[in-house]
Amino acid sequence: MPVDFAAVQSYLESLVPDRHPELQKMEVYADETDFPILGPASCQFCYLLTKLHGARRVFEMGSGYGYSTAWFARAVDENGGGIVHHTVWDQTLSDMAKEHLTRLGYPERGSGGRTEIAYTMGEAVQALRETPGTFDVVFNDIDKKAYPDTIDLVYERLKPGGLFITDNVVWSGRVADPSNQDESTTAIRTFTKALSQSDRWECTVVPIRDGLLVAVKR
Ligand SMILES: C[S@@+](CC[C@H](N)C(=O)[O-])C[C@H]1O[C@@H](n2cnc3c(N)ncnc32)[C@H](O)[C@@H]1O
Repeated sequence: MPVDFAAVQSYLESLVPDRHPELQKMEVYADETDFPILGPASCQFCYLLTKLHGARRVFEMGSGYGYSTAWFARAVDENGGGIVHHTVWDQTLSDMAKEHLTRLGYPERGSGGRTEIAYTMGEAVQALRETPGTFDVVFNDIDKKAYPDTIDLVYERLKPGGLFITDNVVWSGRVADPSNQDESTTAIRTFTKALSQSDRWECTVVPIRDGLLVAVKR
C-alpha cells in the first residue's frame, strides 16, 4: 500500500502539544496566506534539539515573521536565557516578527530581558558574517539556491559540537528524482552531499515535513 505522506505529516502535527495562542495565530496566518513556515512538528523537533543542546546563542537565517524563531527562543529561555538572531530581507516580515515575539515574552535585544531577539533586516548570510561571536545553533531556511554558500561560514561561526539545522532538504521529494535538475533542487543536493561527506560534520536527515538536515560540527 503506498504511504500517504500528507496524512502522516498531519498525524505527526496532531501529536505536538497545544501551543501558545500567539503561536496558533501565526499558524492560522500561514494557512491563510500560504506562507511557508516550518510548522509545529518540525519546530517541536528543533526546539527539543536546541533545548537538549543547552543552547543560549542561536542564529537563524531566513526567519520570516518569526514562527520558527519563537520555538528557538523558547528553548534558549528554558536553558537559562540568551539571544536568538532573527534575519529576513523584508521589513514588513521583520516588523511582524517583532510584534509576535514581543507578545510571546521575548523582547528586542537591549531591553534587559532574559531571552532577547536581535533583528537584522537584510541578507541573512551577510548578517551572519557581520555578527560577532560564535553560536550554539545556526538554523538555515534561506533561498535554496544559496544553501551551498552557507557551509564554510557556518562552520567558522559555530562552537565545536554546535548544531547546524537546515530545512527543506527533501524538497517535496524532488531531491530523489534524478530527472529534476532545477537550480534549487541541484543546490540542495550539492549542499546535503557536501555536509554528509565532509569529515568536519556528523550529519543526519530527518524526513519530518520537508526534511531537516541536522549537522554537528566535529
Ligand atoms: C521559508 S521562509 C521562513 C520561515 C521561517 N523559518 C519559519 O518557519 O517561520 C524564508 C524567509 O526568508 C526570506 N529569505 C530567503 N532567503 C533569504 C536570505 N538570503 N536572506 C534573508 N532572508 C531570506 C524569505 O523571503 C522568507 O521570508
